[in-house]
Amino acid sequence: MSTNAYDDIAPFYAAMVPPTTRAGLYPANPDMASRIARLSDGSHILDAACGSAYDAIAISRGLPGLCQPPRRFVVACNDRSAAMVRQARENCRRVLGAELEMRQCAMAALADVPEWRGRFDLVIAPNALTTLSDTQDLGDYPDYLLDCLAGMRAVLKPGGTLLVDMRDWDRAHPQAWTLTRRVYEDDDLHFVVDYRWAFGPTVDSVHEAHMTIWQDAKRDIAMGEEDYRFAGIGSRDLATLFERARFSVVAAEPQVRGLDREPFLTFELRRD
Ligand SMILES: C[S@@+](CC[C@H](N)C(=O)[O-])C[C@H]1O[C@@H](n2cnc3c(N)ncnc32)[C@H](O)[C@@H]1O
Repeated sequence: MSTNAYDDIAPFYAAMVPPTTRAGLYPANPDMASRIARLSDGSHILDAACGSAYDAIAISRGLPGLCQPPRRFVVACNDRSAAMVRQARENCRRVLGAELEMRQCAMAALADVPEWRGRFDLVIAPNALTTLSDTQDLGDYPDYLLDCLAGMRAVLKPGGTLLVDMRDWDRAHPQAWTLTRRVYEDDDLHFVVDYRWAFGPTVDSVHEAHMTIWQDAKRDIAMGEEDYRFAGIGSRDLATLFERARFSVVAAEPQVRGLDREPFLTFELRRD
């Protein structure tokens, strides 16, 4: 996966977003959604790796699938991929009929955005902190993660909350899958997303996956493919890195995704 691999898959990314999130009802991660629903009206929320902005759109609509009346949040977003930001702007115009405050910028570079410093009650970074680029080795991952966390810390208010999710390698590695599959369908669309896995020898290894997005149930037509390298890290080492970045762990909520019940953890972190 190159640094800007998401530039390549931006046009297909909708395939990986659940229909309820594409419809702007609530963010894709149910645990994040329920934690966001507990915030007060008027809270400022940043999606720091917004991708195609479907989560940010649902949050700016006030989570209408969860909260009635919908909540009133002030939402901004950023992503380091130019193509994702283009896609995000297009989705905002199409779904919201309006722009969201948006920047093309890496998480680590958030510290250099003066008008965002110390502004947000909540920062989220779903599905964004587990992969390595082609130029990164596993040994680079701790410093990379610390830089991302420092950027997000810089834009949080003191005492603010960071929500991130991670693959749970302690539970995933023993499964030694060769293939995991997710299916997304609604009235108009039917996508199958396959990950063909090559796990490293231990939890703390690089784990590789070749992802194929099929646009039909029979898996005849591949609409996108990508190679991922994941940084294997156990949850104890992860907690140590969060603490080094001066976040305390408020919750680590287990979750499973897809037909094979791939294990994830959603972390609620508090800026100390
Ligand atoms: C798998 S997508 C997830 C997008 C969105 N958060 C979601 O859950 O649908 C990962 C996104 O994170 C972005 N990303 C990865 N590393 C990043 C970084 N260091 N800073 C900012 N964005 C990053 C990618 O460009 C991509 O859009």
